[in-house]
Amino acid sequence: MTRANRPTILTGDRTTGPLHLGHYIGSLHARVRLQHEAQQFLLLADTQALTDNIGRHQRVTENVLEVALDYLAVGIDPMKSTIFIQSQVPELAELSQYLLNLVTVARLERNPTIKEEIRLRGFERDIPAGFLTYPVSQAADITAFKATHVPVGDDQLPMIEQTNELVRRFNNTVDRPVLVECEAVLSQVARLPGIDGKAKMSKSLGNAITLGATPDDISKAVNNMYTDPNHLRISDPGQVEGNVVFTFLDAFEPDLQKVEELKTHYRRGGLGDSVVKRMLNDRLQSLIEPIRARRRELAEDRAEVIAILRRGTMRAREVAGQTLSEVKSALGLTYFGN
Ligand code: TRP
Repeated sequence: MTRANRPTILTGDRTTGPLHLGHYIGSLHARVRLQHEAQQFLLLADTQALTDNIGRHQRVTENVLEVALDYLAVGIDPMKSTIFIQSQVPELAELSQYLLNLVTVARLERNPTIKEEIRLRGFERDIPAGFLTYPVSQAADITAFKATHVPVGDDQLPMIEQTNELVRRFNNTVDRPVLVECEAVLSQVARLPGIDGKAKMSKSLGNAITLGATPDDISKAVNNMYTDPNHLRISDPGQVEGNVVFTFLDAFEPDLQKVEELKTHYRRGGLGDSVVKRMLNDRLQSLIEPIRARRRELAEDRAEVIAILRRGTMRAREVAGQTLSEVKSALGLTYFGN
């Protein structure tokens, strides 16, 4: 693939907490691979995190560094991927401002992701305007880099749809193809449940294993994992479906045949939870150990991490600045020349 037609990827995470195994399996793993095939921009979405955390802004800003440490510790290479901080690229806010004129409040209220989030947060009629309009800001994140591919979870598909609507509206309005439509890249792996068996692993639900988890945190989490509540005696036949220990083995154990054998044995009866949990514990310990070590090492060199983020942010500003000058010129906002 030549450089010119390499895909451009933009993706990122809200900085509301450190990342966990759900992120690892759902997106981080793929990003490490994709950085060799595409020009990849990774956004630390602190501005977006503020849209529903304005009273907890300290948590948001503290977690910028935590998420950056997670990225670097799993093997995202700052020479290959551009890691940057959303709030430090004012071009993104500027582009959002123009795009806001191309969408109605009614359309924003119909965005299924926003609807669900409003419900979960109990905002009802007291929706912060910044929150309601964050899909537009997300469209700015994507289009400022002319991203062609956006790896996201399926909950984010309405964001991509709305982004492409805005791209078409904008290009039609100015009658030139300034912005570029993008394609969602869905993760191939099923979403990882929490250790309690709830549909989603999430730090705020307290059912997550973070990438900086200590050996003790990991053992405790595995021991507390939801299994089959009817599997009371070792000799009882056990259920594998919905059994979190097996879901995790499916996700993290490379020896598929071994997992199949365990499942058969468990279903038949005669295999205790403790044996399967021990195996998963060993697997997760050896997965997280090098990540945790690298994370610790990097955390001790905070200045270096800040320098990486500064360089990434400067590069992001250059690219976004180029798009913004095309956008402003298309809108005739060129009073002082261009
Ligand atoms: N919405 C994403 C999240 O909740 C973060 C994000 C912000 C993002 N801007 C983006 C993801 C652009 C992909 C593309 O974590």
